[in-house]
Amino acid sequence: MSQRRQIVVGVGAGIAAYKATHVVRALVKANFDVWVVPTPASLKMIGEVTWQAISGNPVYTQVDSPVSGVGHIELAREASAIVVVPATADLLARITHGIANDMLTNVILAADCPLLLAPAMHTNMWENPATRKNVQTLQARGARFIGPVAGELSSGDRGLGRLAPEEDIYAEVLSVLSTGKWQGKKVMVSAGGTREPLDPVRFLGNRSSGRFGVEIARQFAWQGAQVTLLAANIEPTLLESLPGGVEVVATPSAGKMRQAALDYFPHMQVAVMAAAVADYQPVDFQSEKIKKVPNQQEFSLRLRPTADILADLARKKHSDQLVAGFAAETGSWEQVLQLGKEKARRKGADIIFINQVGTETGFGDIATRVCAVDGEGSEIGQFSGNKTQVATQIVTLVRQQLQ
Ligand code: CTP
Repeated sequence: MSQRRQIVVGVGAGIAAYKATHVVRALVKANFDVWVVPTPASLKMIGEVTWQAISGNPVYTQVDSPVSGVGHIELAREASAIVVVPATADLLARITHGIANDMLTNVILAADCPLLLAPAMHTNMWENPATRKNVQTLQARGARFIGPVAGELSSGDRGLGRLAPEEDIYAEVLSVLSTGKWQGKKVMVSAGGTREPLDPVRFLGNRSSGRFGVEIARQFAWQGAQVTLLAANIEPTLLESLPGGVEVVATPSAGKMRQAALDYFPHMQVAVMAAAVADYQPVDFQSEKIKKVPNQQEFSLRLRPTADILADLARKKHSDQLVAGFAAETGSWEQVLQLGKEKARRKGADIIFINQVGTETGFGDIATRVCAVDGEGSEIGQFSGNKTQVATQIVTLVRQQLQ
């Protein structure tokens, strides 16, 4: 295979398949080695000869088609990214469920590179609970969706379901591939929420899912960094969605996270501390379950402060290292900004990403708004979008600040 970076363009059986030709041409022009893998049904829309002619590579639709050619494992291994244009409802369902009954779904199942999906379908199909669930599952596993957008559909109806503009799909592929930038760099990310044990069955914890930190870890890894994730009580399925090379260190409590952070940090260029760390821990751990006392009107817990890991790292860092943290605040956006800027001045980190949290915002799978400030509390960036989009922007900003 060639020295150029390889991209697999999957083509689903939708009317929008012809638009994939524009994406393929743009990628070929940008000197990528493009392998088009159409589903067998999509050949009714655009035939093999067209794909071969514009990509300059052979076209396979079934795993048994290459006789002496390239197999699905080789395509999956060599691909720097897979982009599916258009991703039909059927394809999304098959990818979600790991069904591998043609070349494209085999390649996707075997690959460990970024997966970009540009859906196109009728609004009713896009909004059907079955598709919604599949999209959610794929997003949770790290797939990146480009569109669909609202507009005229092939049925003549108008609504959400139109393929995103080809330029947007092309730009998104380039943004995912703006890699190499992090090649050889070591990055530590903390994520999740610590739990401070009270007794063998109880703990003091918080509502952080770890999704944001996991997204940040994924973006760093996709861009070539060697990533160590300090994971505090994150759902195993979320961790399983990370690219293979990410080292996951279980750090369930503030104490364990601090120890791991101090051990790993000297070998890192960057630390992004996104975990929600308990500020207090019980003074005594009861080795037996704490029993309820009948008729007791009050129950008090004695707590002591935990060490501030972020501030410790900021104190220890060398000039070629960068330490970033988060300020999770509640209240109006103005209050959140003010509290976050004060926190930035206190912590001594190079960057603080201020975000609003509460029962409705910040935690879980929802839109996020983040303001980045430097150690003096001066604004250096504002981002918003879903957690994947914001994580990408965070990684870019960290890169700019590291130079
Ligand atoms: N953090 C930390 N160690 C702690 C507490 C927080 O490293 N013991 C880090 C978090 O990972 C985050 C940043 O400090 O990057 C800010 O966390 P946050 O909970 O917003 O602030 P606190 O310092 O805990 O202050 P407060 O709870 O009073 O807002």
